[in-house]
Amino acid sequence: MSQNLIIFASGSGSNAQAIIDFFRNDPEVKIRLIACNKPQAGVLNIASHEGIPTLIIEKEQFFSGNGYIDELKALDPSLIILAGFLWKLPTALVQAFPGKIINIHPALLPKYGGKGMYGHFVHEAVKASGDLQTGITIHQVDEHYDNGTFLFQAVTDIEPDDSSETIAKKVLQLEHRHFPRIIQDLLRQ
Ligand code: GRF
Repeated sequence: MSQNLIIFASGSGSNAQAIIDFFRNDPEVKIRLIACNKPQAGVLNIASHEGIPTLIIEKEQFFSGNGYIDELKALDPSLIILAGFLWKLPTALVQAFPGKIINIHPALLPKYGGKGMYGHFVHEAVKASGDLQTGITIHQVDEHYDNGTFLFQAVTDIEPDDSSETIAKKVLQLEHRHFPRIIQDLLRQ
């Protein structure tokens, strides 16, 4: 039986691309939809190039009432994957897919998480802290920012001459290396 994935992303989409590439030759796994709240986001070019359908999420419809739950349910997703999606999900959406929504965060939660902690803000805070390590956290999604059960973490060292930009590059490499295979593990459970 084939398994359906939905990706939510609003950035450049490098994680979405890594996931697409990983499952490209897997007949059991199909990426059915890329949902995005930014019409200019790079991830939409990836979707177009890959021939993956897209959903442009409108703020009002997303946050008021049932939003897109019916459209998403119709695709029977095994997982909904947040890969650089910045909005907090409405409670109704989280409850419609219990245990099936996961997120990747570019730091070692519970540090450097919560509202406003995304993108370069995370890596700047990590650099300013003087921490010797950072990493990634893949976790289940609940109604709160960066709060659900942790599924996986990976760590990378921070060298004294690392800047927030080089930290960001190291972390993104970790994301690309681990996110697709953790998704595969979850699909096999
Ligand atoms: C990643 O660092 C991810 O952890 C964060 O947003 C970034 C998305 O990058 N939530 P990309 O759009 O996949 O390149």
